[in-house]
Amino acid sequence: MAEQDYILKVNDLKTYFKVGKKTVRAVNGVTFDVKRGKTLCIVGESGCGKSVSAHSVMQLLPVNGKIVDGSVELMTKDPETGEMRTIRLDQLPRSGKEMRQIRGKEIAMIFQDPMSSLNPVYTVGSQIMENLRNHEKISRKEGREKIIKLLAELGIPNPEIRYDQYPHEFSGGMKQRIMIAIAMICNPTMLIADEPTTALDVTIQAQILDLIRKMQREHGTSVILITHNMGIVAEIADEVAVMYMGRVVEFGTLKQIFTNPLHPYTKALMRSVPVLGMKKDEELATIEGSTPDASTVFNGCEFADRCEFATPECSKRFPVDTVMEDGHRVRCLLFEEGHPNAES
Ligand SMILES: Nc1ncnc2c1ncn2[C@@H]1O[C@H](COP(=O)(O)OP(=O)(O)OP(=O)(O)O)[C@@H](O)[C@H]1O
Ligand SMILES: [Mg+2]
Repeated sequence: MAEQDYILKVNDLKTYFKVGKKTVRAVNGVTFDVKRGKTLCIVGESGCGKSVSAHSVMQLLPVNGKIVDGSVELMTKDPETGEMRTIRLDQLPRSGKEMRQIRGKEIAMIFQDPMSSLNPVYTVGSQIMENLRNHEKISRKEGREKIIKLLAELGIPNPEIRYDQYPHEFSGGMKQRIMIAIAMICNPTMLIADEPTTALDVTIQAQILDLIRKMQREHGTSVILITHNMGIVAEIADEVAVMYMGRVVEFGTLKQIFTNPLHPYTKALMRSVPVLGMKKDEELATIEGSTPDASTVFNGCEFADRCEFATPECSKRFPVDTVMEDGHRVRCLLFEEGHPNAES
């Protein structure tokens, strides 16, 4: 695939936190890419490093967190020459001008906890306006018109009145729409949505996902959607990255992951997806064991202890990524060439 078909490439990214004397390896070798105009879903259990991966891309890490290795490359148009170029986001100063320009204008993010990302003392309109005027030269009057138009597109009734109201006057689903408005007002090339619907009830969830898809269709936005919900993945993903303990253990197209999951962890995840027609009292399969503490040091595959296919070798040697013929990628010894159990 040609270089310009990619919008973002994350390669072997490692982000660690210092907590007292301990090092938490929250992201420990994450590799994925996002194609132009497409949706990548990142899935995996709580604590596997989904949010920290996203915050690393945006360079929005707390002071005890640091990218220690790997790279984050963003493909973007040079504003002067109009030519495509690659920027190494991980090498930009966190709060420098360039990174601030990229945040919001090139990559916008909807955070996992939207209720606390809105400022209660400002009207929602002024919070959207702030993002808009940070990135675009536009008068307040024109800005207001543009924002009201977007609020209407996002299905917010009486947008002229709602513009001047405060966050507490909005329901959860409506607040989430405001978060999408803040993210989309500058028409970013890429949107990162971190569990944008978990706090919402099912019908509102579906509406919010439809909105994200509509925005994507109309503006060609590339999307990274982080979720626990494999049902949402099935509906919205073009590609899927499955994370476990700070690593991407499998990466492939939606079809590859759903019809031919390779990694034992992905297989277990897929078994936990409710199937249409399943009886109410039929239990979902759960994955045996629990995720180890993120400061645990491993000598081999992190999933070995919970894996039904593990061999003694699995705990002694780190698997590397194996790329299958169709581009489907898996990090498991069982698929490495020369492994006695390969292909079994
Ligand atoms: N500021 C921090 N200091 C220390 N450890 C942190 C910090 N932020 C996250 N971690 C740890 O990094 C690991 C990855 O966290 P992350 O928030 O990325 O998980 P997640 O996959 O987004 O989980 P969830 O699905 O629950 O949102 C966890 O073990 C978490 O405890
Ligand atoms: Mg998270």
